[in-house]
Amino acid sequence: MAIREILEVPDPVLKQVSVPVTEFNAELKTLVDDMFETMYDAPGIGLAAIQVGVPLRVLVIDLQPEDEDAEPVACDHDGHHHHHQPTKKEPRVFINPEILDPSEDLSVYQEGCLSVPEIYADIERPAKIRARWQDIDGKTHEEDMDGLMATCLQHEMDHLEGILFIDHLSRLKRQMVLKKLDKLRKAA
Ligand code: NI
Repeated sequence: MAIREILEVPDPVLKQVSVPVTEFNAELKTLVDDMFETMYDAPGIGLAAIQVGVPLRVLVIDLQPEDEDAEPVACDHDGHHHHHQPTKKEPRVFINPEILDPSEDLSVYQEGCLSVPEIYADIERPAKIRARWQDIDGKTHEEDMDGLMATCLQHEMDHLEGILFIDHLSRLKRQMVLKKLDKLRKAA
């Protein structure tokens, strides 16, 4: 496994449309392993293959929910004691994903993206979807999704079409966001 470089705006590769996976082989398994390692390292909750420069219709998602059954972990940070709820690992792979039945009702989440660092914006998307995808062995699955999972899958699927979450903003707002990102980079 290896951590790969995450491409950031305005890298033109992020605008590419990704192509379907046809071979479910060892190379695909290595790509998926590397994507998980890269995503956890970032850290993030979702990553599309195009974000590491591979134009294939492959996504990894792990919402990393808080594990309510586990003992809180005490940690000492800045001299204060905090109790952190450990997160569960729930890695999921989506290959050649499709959305079958987007709901008319929408939900709004504040989204961010590893390819648009430090920028967050409220984005409206269908609240419920039915998703169909293939797993790492090529087997087809279908599932109804809502909440953060539905939003995250739609965000990652946009990457497969070369679309970033900031492309859902008005032109003016997008320009403001890109200027802010430019300033942050110059300051860093
Ligand atoms: Ni993203």
